[in-house]
Amino acid sequence: MADRRPLIAGNWKMNGLKANLGEITAIAAEAAASPAVDVALFIPATLIAPAVAAAPDFFIGGQDVHENASGAHTGCISAAMLVEAGAKGVIVGHSERRTDQHETDATVAAKASRAKTEGLSVILCVGESLEVRDAGNAEEVVSAQLLASLPQEASSDWLSIAYEPIWAIGTGRVPTIEAISEMHSALRAALRKMIGGDADKMRILYGGSVSGDNARDILSVADVDGGLVGGASLTAAKFVPIIEAARNA
Ligand code: 13P
Repeated sequence: MADRRPLIAGNWKMNGLKANLGEITAIAAEAAASPAVDVALFIPATLIAPAVAAAPDFFIGGQDVHENASGAHTGCISAAMLVEAGAKGVIVGHSERRTDQHETDATVAAKASRAKTEGLSVILCVGESLEVRDAGNAEEVVSAQLLASLPQEASSDWLSIAYEPIWAIGTGRVPTIEAISEMHSALRAALRKMIGGDADKMRILYGGSVSGDNARDILSVADVDGGLVGGASLTAAKFVPIIEAARNA
């Protein structure tokens, strides 16, 4: 992982009620015991304030943010609202939002910018469909997606990238270690063209069916700087082994 600090982030998606706060405090305790690894949970907006109250030193984030500061956008959440609830970061451009909410690359870039303006750190997601993977040009397509989704002011002090192949999300299917390595190198090269030397400091996470069983192999890839974990982040029992793998990678 070069000298980039590993980041193990959990994305709870549309899961999590107050009854699950005990999982968050257990994960926060493991994070506190792992100073060499950054650990974060991106949880439903309704759970942010209670989670921050239960684990004040832990990194809690939201899962989406609107690109505008405020206004007539029924059902959406602003960066200032996330900050007020106690969030320190946010995910933008997850494939589930790109698909379900038809978010474009330009919208994703605008969301990242807005989040940065309000002081949130950001994980920006990219990844290819199975069709693109099978067509053999995944690296080209995902690099182009990254360049189109990256805001002008992108820098490693507030932004991380997550490569999440859509066909690997929630399926138990994971690309080969070689394919992950090739994609992450390609994305690093694409970043270098856009932000120069800072690309070597920017974290590129892998996401898609990461588990305690495969985390060590994935995290030992040179250009993989952490993981964005869905299903296996919902309980401390499944998430802690992934944090441990990062500690030992
Ligand atoms: P899974 O780990 O459940 O495959 O989800 C990955 C993901 O989409 C994280 O954002």
